[in-house]
Parts: sequence; structure tokens; C-alpha cells
Amino acid sequence: MINPVAKERTEVNYPTQKPEALLERIIKASSNPGDLIFDCFMGSGTTQAVAMKLGRRFLGADINMGAIQTTTKRLINRAKELNGQITNEKYYTGVEVYNVNDYEFFRNELEAKRLIIEALGMQALPDNNLWDAELDGRMVAILGINRVATASDFEKIIANMDINAYSRKQSQNPTKPVEKVTFVCMGHDPNLGAMFKEKMESLGLIIDLEIVDLLRDKKDLRFKRESDAEVVIVQDMKSKKSYIEIKNFYPMNLLQKLSIEHQDIEDWRDLVDSILIDWNYDEGTFSPTMLDTPDKRETVSGKYEIPANAGRIHIKITDVLSESWEGTIKNRG
Ligand SMILES: C[S@@+](CC[C@H](N)C(=O)[O-])C[C@H]1O[C@@H](n2cnc3c(N)ncnc32)[C@H](O)[C@@H]1O
Repeated sequence: MINPVAKERTEVNYPTQKPEALLERIIKASSNPGDLIFDCFMGSGTTQAVAMKLGRRFLGADINMGAIQTTTKRLINRAKELNGQITNEKYYTGVEVYNVNDYEFFRNELEAKRLIIEALGMQALPDNNLWDAELDGRMVAILGINRVATASDFEKIIANMDINAYSRKQSQNPTKPVEKVTFVCMGHDPNLGAMFKEKMESLGLIIDLEIVDLLRDKKDLRFKRESDAEVVIVQDMKSKKSYIEIKNFYPMNLLQKLSIEHQDIEDWRDLVDSILIDWNYDEGTFSPTMLDTPDKRETVSGKYEIPANAGRIHIKITDVLSESWEGTIKNRG
């Protein structure tokens, strides 16, 4: 582990960060300049940063979005340093980040649980402090988001269980499982199931346990991502006119598809099929009077004059894959 007050620590500060000197020794001992170095659990990217410094090419992967962000920042800074040097050495300073599945958008644990429950077709149990959901008579606990599930995850579940009630149920039917349980996780300790069953047996309980590991069993699962938009009201002081202006639009499913296909988006307007605006939105009935549906070669404008009689303004932005974002904004002017 790295010294807590080392310069590297203050620059990066990742909990499991290794000293660069250690990686330097490993990389020098096992590769030549130009070789490709891969650390598939890269953490703060020490391996990649050192590989770059030593003129090696590199690959990295991590399940944790914080690790990706820390590493990306570190590598971009390292590339700047190296590119600023005058040297005959050959360095590989290009850095690109690829999203190879859908998990990176799990920024918020509660949101992640909701999306997982929805994608697996489960019934959410919002008021239950023990189980997150139910599916076909199985009680579901979602253990870890963006991290490997370990015994400490089920310790919390056991702490919340009504062991006495389960024991009574078990004594009525000593050979039958008292509960059917499904753990949903994103990577797990291979002994997790055995450890849980053992723990339950030590309490005199038989549990029918199934583990659904999203990374292993549900690789093809697609999560629907919510779109977002940035909409503001702007005033032109000279003409005294107000406008609705769409500053940005993030059609998440479409953006994801595009990033997989590796196309860059210069302007959000290129992603938009139509914009509809209702200037006097009566909650529930959307009656747009402004339609911006450009021809093949044009794009939408994104800025619209607000009519004098406007009240609550409701906007619907539809992307080229027919997915929409809708939002209401109050006209204060
Ligand atoms: C000890 S740290 C890595 C340290 C790094 N290799 C170094 O030398 O500085 C372990 C990393 O593995 C990541 N990790 C754990 N399970 C993973 C998985 N299934 N796939 C990818 N990364 C994972 C964690 O998020 C964590 O950042």
C-alpha cells in the first residue's frame, strides 16, 4: 500500500492505490517497450500510468465508475506531462474510455435497484426492510451495486430477519425450506452461497437460495435509461421577448448506442427528430401548438419565442429512435 502522505497519494488517493515504483518494477521485469500491459482490476490506474511512462501500451478495466474517472484523469494528466517533454522515447499517450455494458450508469444505489427490479420483471417491495422485491414466490435481495458481493452483505440481511418467526415455521415443517431467497449481485465471492446456507443452518433454518449474478448470468440484460434535457427561459432585453431555449438534450438509450458504435455527437440537434411545445399545458392533456419537425437536411432550432399568453409550458423532445423526453417549465415572464 502506498504511504498515506506520498505525493502520489495526494494526486490520486484511491483506497487500494499501489506505489508507482512497485508497478514500475513489475512492468520492467515482465515486458519490453511497446508491449501491451493489461490490468483488468485497475483501481486508480497505477499500472496504466506506469505503463504509459515506460513506453508500453495499456488496457484497463474496472467495475467501479469512480475507478474509471480517477484513472482517466490520471492518464490524461500523465499524457500531458509526457507530451510536453522533448525526448526520443516513444510513448503511447492516447487514452480512450469504452463502456462495454450498461452498468456504468448506476450512479445512485436506489435508482439502480429500481432499474434492476424493473429489468428482471420483479415486484418491488418498497416498504419491506428485508427484501427488495419478489419474483415467483422468491424473496429477492439486491446485494451489491458496482461491487462484488461478500458475506458482509448478507450479514445485514440476517440482522434484519425475524429469526424467531422463521424458527417457528421451520419447526412446523422441519425438512422444508422456510424461505426461497434470490440474491442479485454484480460479481460475488464464489463461497457466498455456501456461507449463507451454512450460517442459516447454524440458526436451524433451511433456505432455498439462488444467486443471480448480473455480470455472469444476465450479460444481455438491457436497462432502460431515462433521457434528460436542459431547458431554460431566456429574455432578450432589447426586444423584450422571451424564448424557450433547449441547451442540451441527452437521449440516454440513443447516446449509449452511438457510443458503442463509436460515433461522436457534435450537436444535440442532430439526435432530434421533433420538438413539440404546448404553451398552455393543462396537466394531463398535451396539446402542442408549436411543432418543430425539420426536413431531412435540417435540424430543429432549439429556441422558440414564448407567446404572450403562455402559461405552463410543456415540451416533448423525440429522438431519432422515437424515444422521448418530456418536461414542464413555468413561464414567469
Ligand atoms: C485492489 S484494486 C486494484 C488495484 C490496482 N490493480 C493497482 O495495482 O493499483 C481492485 C479493483 O478491482 C475492481 N473490481 C472488483 N471486481 C471487479 C470486476 N468483477 N470487474 C472489474 N473490476 C473489478 C474494484 O472496483 C477495484 O477498483
